[in-house]
Amino acid sequence: MPDRFPHGFSWGTATAAHQVEGNNHGNDWWDWEQHPGAIRSGERSDPACDHFQRFQEDFDLLRSLHQNAHRFSLEWSRIEPQDGVVDRAAIEHYRQVILALRERGLEPFVTIHHFTIPRWLAGMGGWADPTSVERFARFVELVVAELGELVSYWITINEPTALVYQSYLAGEWPPGVRDFDAGARVLSHLLKAHWQAYERIKERHPRAQVGLAHHLRNFDPFRAWHPLDRLVALLYHRIFNETLLSSLRRGSAVYPLSRLGQASGPAPSQDFIGLNYYTRNLLRFERRARAELFGQRVNRARAPVSDQGLEIYPHGLYRWLLALRRERLPVYITENGVADATDTLRPVFLLDHLRATLRAMGRGSPVRGYFHWTCFDNFEWAEGYGLKFGLASCDPSTQARRLRSSGRLYAEICRTGVLPDPPAGGG
Ligand code: FCB
Repeated sequence: MPDRFPHGFSWGTATAAHQVEGNNHGNDWWDWEQHPGAIRSGERSDPACDHFQRFQEDFDLLRSLHQNAHRFSLEWSRIEPQDGVVDRAAIEHYRQVILALRERGLEPFVTIHHFTIPRWLAGMGGWADPTSVERFARFVELVVAELGELVSYWITINEPTALVYQSYLAGEWPPGVRDFDAGARVLSHLLKAHWQAYERIKERHPRAQVGLAHHLRNFDPFRAWHPLDRLVALLYHRIFNETLLSSLRRGSAVYPLSRLGQASGPAPSQDFIGLNYYTRNLLRFERRARAELFGQRVNRARAPVSDQGLEIYPHGLYRWLLALRRERLPVYITENGVADATDTLRPVFLLDHLRATLRAMGRGSPVRGYFHWTCFDNFEWAEGYGLKFGLASCDPSTQARRLRSSGRLYAEICRTGVLPDPPAGGG
């Protein structure tokens, strides 16, 4: 295993507009937040981290922590508040955000779509409506025409499969649907939207690096010997990991999307793989869990878990990085982090995942950067402010930010590219 990360490695943190900006009242999430019970403790995304106003100071902090890159997303509903209507002030805001990053030596990685859609689009059926693809492409053209000169790295869409799962299978995110066919349709529209975005960005800026942030998890059978557990784990892997990866590799939709009709796009349509890695799931066959495709998610006894109850499994990152070598593309770890209010798990989580990354790099995995999720505690979707993912805390009522010890540890790693030795006696 190499003893350090290479010179030029990108070190940063990742955010999403709706989770940090505050005052995002024009999208589907804001409307969802108004329904009693939709968000834990009835919380709302306003003010979040008030980052829309405070981005300059926030970037000062990231720079002082030796980061050299930053991933953030554009809020579509701010830029296009009505169908086809552009808000120039919003474009100008994001131009200032990008310039503020550049002035501080932080390379912007810009996500175009991170879960939220404008209210007007939601009213037309959102991603379930086929015209969403063309509307997204038009939005991409606009932002690329306006901001493209300043951006070298684009992430078209964040985690299509997580969006489909939460919004159309589990029904816990807007529009709160539980319908496998609708989910498949939405995934196919997101795939087409990515293809369109890729082509439109490349037309204007052939040298721009364009990718998509994949949510990839390991799905393993709970009982390794049990044929039905194995079958369910394989099914989950195929649907939630492989469908998108294979469709993008081939430039045509694979099952289950292919049964919705012909869909094809450019191949390749990714210049890098964006990998969001958090956990693995163990699956147990459960004949009554029809809506969950007969899989019940369980944790290994005594497995270390986050505040969210997800298994902490750094080896899964290593497995994914090795598996992704077959894509023959550079990899950016576009998210990796842990819900941990007391910051007792995070330092070890960070070290173990970065060690897994270095080990994989030693075996030929072309990892070019790492973005921790996230810099500040923020609005964690349906979980509200309860889950704390920040290297720094952020109190939404006072807006005070306070760096955690994991934040100091990460700063040292960003500065040196070296992982500190485990504490004496710690093996
Ligand atoms: C990822 C999402 C991100 C955040 C983290 C905890 O799946 O992309 O917005 O919710 O999980």
